Amino acid sequence: MREQLEALRDDAIEKIEQAQEKKVVQEIRVKYLGKKGPVTEVLRGMGKLSPEERPVIGQLANDVREAIGKAIESKMEALEQAEIHRKLQEETIDVTLPGRPILKGGAHPLTATITEVEDLFIGLGFSVAEGPQIETDYYNFEALNLPKDHPARDMQDSFYFTDELLLRTQTSPVQARTMEKYKGKGPIKIICPGKVFRRDDDDATHSHQFMQIEGLYVDHGVRMSDLKGVLQAFAKSFFGEERSIRLRPSFFPFTEPSVEVDVSCGICHGDGCRVCKQTGWIEILGAGMVHPRVLEMSGFNPNEYSGFAFGMGVERLAMLKYGIDDIRHFYTNDRRFLAQFKRV
Ligand code: PHE
Repeated sequence: MREQLEALRDDAIEKIEQAQEKKVVQEIRVKYLGKKGPVTEVLRGMGKLSPEERPVIGQLANDVREAIGKAIESKMEALEQAEIHRKLQEETIDVTLPGRPILKGGAHPLTATITEVEDLFIGLGFSVAEGPQIETDYYNFEALNLPKDHPARDMQDSFYFTDELLLRTQTSPVQARTMEKYKGKGPIKIICPGKVFRRDDDDATHSHQFMQIEGLYVDHGVRMSDLKGVLQAFAKSFFGEERSIRLRPSFFPFTEPSVEVDVSCGICHGDGCRVCKQTGWIEILGAGMVHPRVLEMSGFNPNEYSGFAFGMGVERLAMLKYGIDDIRHFYTNDRRFLAQFKRV
């Protein structure tokens, strides 16, 4: 019996020592120390022993139980410790790791360009006006000296809803709308950024939808030299102090005289290169002195008032300033493109 008990003890302790999981140790506890376990089983045979042997074996049985119990306890303790240790290791925070950057949005390059131009003109005393994108034939064309049969309407293929309603092809209708609002009394000094639409096939330089910024200054004695001065200030501020502008005669039905305005090429500085098509100059906008008929139609006396107006394409400005080679980049929302224009 003694050997049996000792063998049981050694067997149990060995199993306990090999156990890697608390669950296994629990199973050993149930198996060896439970009511139906082998130690109890052995003790059942005590009746057959002599009175002298009984206490000795009884004592041994208790010792065996105790030894197994202790082994279980210390194993449980060790496994517990190991688990805590493992958790601590797993959950260690490495404070030296670099932080994850928080992704911040930024203004779209077109919005940024408009804001920059607005800021400049606000500094020159202009305020910002707005007009509808769905426009009447009257404001988009007629009030700008383009009667229904005027051939210059062909310069701007249009999206019509009805004979009288269309998506505006330019921001110039805001000129007429604003002048009407002022009821024949100046001064008017506004710029108007906004979306415009033309029936163009999209390619690297054309888009059926794009943005313009219109400018209008009406007052007593506004002269062409005022136009030139303002546009020169704009070009230098937007493109760089070293740049200059030149005015070329052109035609718009709502301005007389009309000009196209070029800025000196920022790549070759006038020598001629691929960007400026060897001319040294790049066209940036259309402008002119407000046509007397346009002033008159919108309620201003052309003998009393004169004015200048200009209109520029926002995409074109941004493409020239940032060296963007395809207008479609503005509308495809590729983050790799947009992220380059983030300002802090
Ligand atoms: N509206 C003209 C265009 O879209 C530009 C322009 C505006 C020209 C104002 C002269 C004066 O081409």
